[in-house]
Amino acid sequence: MEAVFVKIGLSEQKAKDTVKNKKLAPLLEAVIDEANVRDSGCDKDQGNLLYQLASTITKDALPHRAYIVNSIMAGDLKTADQVSAAIKYLEDVQEPINKEEFNAAAGVGVVVTPEQIKDAVAKYIESNKENIVTNRYRLLGPTLATTRKMPELRWADGVSVKNEVEAQFLALLGPKDERDAPQKKKKEKKEPAKQQQQQQKKKEETKEVDLSKIFFEGELAKLHKPGGNKQIKPELMEEHLKATGGKVYTRFPPEPNGYLHIGHAKAINVNFGYAKAHNGVCYLRYDDTNPEAEEEKYFLSILETVKWLGFEPFKITYSSDYFHELYDLAVKLIKKGLAYTCQCTGEEIHAHRGGDNGGARTACVHRDRPIEETLEQFQKMKEGRYKEGEITLRMKMNLESGNPQFWDLIAYRVLFTPHHRTGSEWCIYPTYDFTHCLVDSFENISHSLCTTEFRQSRESYYWLCDAVEVYKPVQWEYGRLNVTGTIMSKRKILKLVTNNYVHGWDDPRMYTLVGIRRRGVPPEAINSFVLELGVTTAKSTIDVLRFDSKVRDYLDKTAPRTMVVMDPIKVTIENLADDYLEWVQVPNMPRKPEFGEHKIPFTNTFYIDSSDFREVDSKDYYRLAPGKSVGLLHVPRPVKCVQVKKDANGKVTELVCRYENEGEFKKPKTYIHWVGEAPAHGSPVKLDEVRLYEPLFKHANPDDAEGGFLNDINPDSLQVVKGALATVGIYSQIEEWIKKTEGHNKESMRWQFVRTGYFCLDYDTELDVAKVVAGNTKEAISRLVVNRTVTLREDAGKSS
Ligand SMILES: *[C@@H]1O[C@H](CO)[C@@H](O)[C@H](O)[C@H]1NC(C)=O
Ligand SMILES: *[C@@H]1O[C@H](CO)[C@@H](O)[C@H](O)[C@H]1NC(C)=O
Ligand SMILES: *[C@@H]1O[C@H](CO)[C@@H](O)[C@H](O)[C@H]1NC(C)=O
Repeated sequence: MEAVFVKIGLSEQKAKDTVKNKKLAPLLEAVIDEANVRDSGCDKDQGNLLYQLASTITKDALPHRAYIVNSIMAGDLKTADQVSAAIKYLEDVQEPINKEEFNAAAGVGVVVTPEQIKDAVAKYIESNKENIVTNRYRLLGPTLATTRKMPELRWADGVSVKNEVEAQFLALLGPKDERDAPQKKKKEKKEPAKQQQQQQKKKEETKEVDLSKIFFEGELAKLHKPGGNKQIKPELMEEHLKATGGKVYTRFPPEPNGYLHIGHAKAINVNFGYAKAHNGVCYLRYDDTNPEAEEEKYFLSILETVKWLGFEPFKITYSSDYFHELYDLAVKLIKKGLAYTCQCTGEEIHAHRGGDNGGARTACVHRDRPIEETLEQFQKMKEGRYKEGEITLRMKMNLESGNPQFWDLIAYRVLFTPHHRTGSEWCIYPTYDFTHCLVDSFENISHSLCTTEFRQSRESYYWLCDAVEVYKPVQWEYGRLNVTGTIMSKRKILKLVTNNYVHGWDDPRMYTLVGIRRRGVPPEAINSFVLELGVTTAKSTIDVLRFDSKVRDYLDKTAPRTMVVMDPIKVTIENLADDYLEWVQVPNMPRKPEFGEHKIPFTNTFYIDSSDFREVDSKDYYRLAPGKSVGLLHVPRPVKCVQVKKDANGKVTELVCRYENEGEFKKPKTYIHWVGEAPAHGSPVKLDEVRLYEPLFKHANPDDAEGGFLNDINPDSLQVVKGALATVGIYSQIEEWIKKTEGHNKESMRWQFVRTGYFCLDYDTELDVAKVVAGNTKEAISRLVVNRTVTLREDAGKSS
């Protein structure tokens, strides 16, 4: 046997070791025989791929092993990477193998030239340049990993990509120097043993805490410690530290005028996560300074979403809590000669700021009015003696500055709309620019973390805190998260909703967090998606497929399996008696006994999916066809189709099969899912509706569509299937779920429907929890509706 292994190019040592491996040796021999190279031997590279195949092929891909062997010997699969991809692809495909899809999945015939590698790497480095220049060689590893995953480099030679990235880093940054020395972990200095112990314990408790390490890496690691930011008067810091005990204080400050979307998931994770990682606290602060757009439902939804993602606000506050303090500071600013009332119109202000073409900036006539006059007019503003738009209070900043945030920003405007919390008490409202930094200061925020759009506001933020002599927090900006194929603008989301393109803000096709939630996506998957992308100043546009694949990974590990037939065909077994009943044990999760199992009845009648039967057979088709046999998942023996019954229109109504006897059959090449007919045992369970989602937009960037994003809507993004059938396993899984949740949050009942996709229980399901608890699940459910969360594989949606 050793000689055979040497013939395919294994080293003597490796051949010896393989012979000793009682499991691997026979597998490798079988592969060698399949390749028909036992006597002739083969090229060493091919031999290595055969070895890789024998040692890594999974049970699910096993029926297709010969196909991979042939592809290796034909020279289609040339690298280890391709063989792995081929195995993975074949794990859950059904016969016949579609050659084109297989080739695409395994990169057959794809050639990536050195020029293409160079261009792709250059493009990536260019778009992340700022970040790379700041963090230097610390980003080499992550860059290697990311470029390796870029679609255009998927099949490029790994070593060439690595060399190219290293060469381009060198060209951009020069050789490594002291800036690239490994960073000492500061936080471990204090009580290292205890800290580590705690960390270890937390790690064991939840997986999510693992991710907290990103808060100690890269740019975030360089943020100041509380107390480290200079103040205009030193006593401000002393008082601040007294109030906070030197803890990290952050805040998540949404405007309550819309629902949160996936971009906010990053803001929530960054602010709450940074505080949590440093043992600090995070406020949820509603930035409610614009009474016109605010609505109660948004307040409630925002809080619920934050909690759903797993975060608990230290306190819930409102910018409007501070209207009096803000007003007092406005007066202080006026008295210092740093604000003036201005009666210019919007157009005049725009013109004074240099107009559309960035011309010269000029002071308006109001800028130098006496302090007394401004005080008097500001008082009148407050008393409601001006109309809306007639007058504003502006900060006297610096018109010479290159930063538009210094061009005398508006601090207060007149608005007669009643405020949801302060009613008609005020008819002047502070602007974002005036409010945000001061409320951060009042709440003793140590780290004001926001997105890079606010970069230019950083200086005006500091200016105002210093001008009114209050504690000044530190602002730091991270790149916002953008996901392709989604719409993030509140205005545009509103349009989709009000024009009924979707069924509300929480339509599962939307990337609002309420929508994603209703689609059944677990919050843990969102958090790890967001944090694994890292928190840097670079803005990232992430392919929505990456999000889906994160969700899939998570559900693969957590969602119980159940068999559901979407489009049933009845099958009867001629050689089983009418009262035949066999209970079949089905694990809730393959290879994970701790998830338990459920049992389902197998009788002489059951249903299979119409896509698993073909009238016109072919050699490479391994599922059911006339005269052909197929395995049924979890059933001991296969069934063979002996007769096809049709109605007058030629539509197949029933398949008559034979349950094959021991010794009569070969091990089936494919196993299909099925649902048994056993009314006495509640089977099958009828699903009233199954809702299948496809992407809402046709393109990655809907805004680029001619005529705008509304023209990019996919008309077939929702498909409703009626008449699907499930096994009674679905009942026991619902019972388990109710034990844990008491039936709250229906979307958290999640499944993998075997060979079909990931699904969750829909809110339209009618379910009596008390009856389930009393052990009467069948009667408890009067309407059963499920929604698809995500397909089983990336391309599955497109082909179905
Ligand atoms: C913030 O700190 C100040 C002292 O600088 C303290 O008076 C105040 O109560 C603190 N604010 C809050 C909301 O804790
Ligand atoms: C399921 O889909 C329907 C129809 O689009 C939607 O109204 C509902 O909110 C969804 N439910 C869940 C839990 O996703
Ligand atoms: C998000 O990414 C798309 C490209 O897919 C881009 O056109 C759009 O401008 C980006 N939006 C933001 C706010 O960065």
